[in-house]
Amino acid sequence: MAIAVLGMQWGDEGKGKVTHLLAKDAKMVVRFNGGPNAGHTVIDRGVKFGTHQIPAGAFYPGVTSVLASGMVIDLSVLREEYGKIVEHLGRKPELLIAENAHLIMPYHRLLEDLEGSGKAIGTTRRGIGPAYRDRAARIGIRAIDLLNRSRLEARLSARLNLLQRAWPQAEAIMKLSASGLADDLLTSAQQFLPSIGDAPAAIEQTMARGEGVLFEGAQGALLDVDYGTYPYVTSSATVYAGLAHAVGIGDLHVERRLGVTKAYTTRVGGGPFPTELIGKEGEWLQTAGSEYGVTTGRPRRCGWLDLVALHHATRLNAPTGLAITKLDILTGIEEIKVCRAYSLRGREITAFPTSTEDLALCEPIYESVVGWDDDISDLRKYADLPSAARAYLNVISSELGVLIAIVSVGPSPEETIITGFDRAK
Ligand code: IMP
Repeated sequence: MAIAVLGMQWGDEGKGKVTHLLAKDAKMVVRFNGGPNAGHTVIDRGVKFGTHQIPAGAFYPGVTSVLASGMVIDLSVLREEYGKIVEHLGRKPELLIAENAHLIMPYHRLLEDLEGSGKAIGTTRRGIGPAYRDRAARIGIRAIDLLNRSRLEARLSARLNLLQRAWPQAEAIMKLSASGLADDLLTSAQQFLPSIGDAPAAIEQTMARGEGVLFEGAQGALLDVDYGTYPYVTSSATVYAGLAHAVGIGDLHVERRLGVTKAYTTRVGGGPFPTELIGKEGEWLQTAGSEYGVTTGRPRRCGWLDLVALHHATRLNAPTGLAITKLDILTGIEEIKVCRAYSLRGREITAFPTSTEDLALCEPIYESVVGWDDDISDLRKYADLPSAARAYLNVISSELGVLIAIVSVGPSPEETIITGFDRAK
């Protein structure tokens, strides 16, 4: 059985918790996009982790964690993260790093700051954009290059040549050398070299044996490089529509696709956000939901649930089930609002605009749903939820035409209602 866990909003939906929950039944967990811009919160036996590149499979023995071709990998971050997980587990999780995954180099991070390009977008400044850009420009360094020192140095030298011609005034760039970079890379990579291999073949074989494979998405549909709120997006395909390519398997069939969405909406960084709550209500949600970025610590912008955006994400992720997270945060709100349409220049629309300028002009048209007061964090059955909470979930499920598979009512793994992929009762 293959399952994909996919973000339906602007990231931070709680994919970490959901993947960690499902990973124990998998043989392989595959992170397929992004890099250390992600911060997946995982609570493993009471210890809280913000994982950045290593998929949640690492926490279980016998599960291979794959860093797939669609990712950009920062080896120094990987080394640190792996070390922390090894210390926590007292064993070394098995990793498989796709040979053709690109590497984030120190100059990618420098470039983001030098160019200032990340500032307006509010990137995580982890070198993501410049690394993907080098991939497209065919001047990137790939994991496979680490296996041959002279090839690595030759590629680095060609890249540095271009870089230093473009940035003669940047001391930090000018002092880089191919051999120095190769030394640093290989020091960080040393323990991972045996893990670099043919990831598409391994994933294909595991799936062919009928063993569980879990695909762990990073970021969310609205940050997709092509279909998100461009240019306020990340630089990878974040959606199910991009998964086959990101893992290198054309004939990919993922039976269960879990679209993860918070019970409200958050966004970090710049860009339009029609249902954003400015002022007290937004601050209330930010505090109640501890809405601060795992990677950067930045406060997240908060707002009501946006069904127009979720419709758009539904087309991209084709979810067969929804995981609704942080429902408990809405407890105590008298009147919950949900956006079913936008008003754009006086016209009601339900299609998510492609133009960022238009999206910024959209005014949400809300419907109100009655809230609930009872603490729901101890509940483990869908039927035990207050009727108002079920009514709210029904609005989401029926509007999107997707069943509710999981409801998260607290941060710990146990604080979860699993209805399965059958209709929630
Ligand atoms: P980048 O991916 O660092 O280039 O950042 C581009 C945009 O995506 C910025 O708005 C970031 O805040 C956002 N972003 C990237 N990764 C994540 C994530 O894991 N969660 C939430 N937002 C993210």
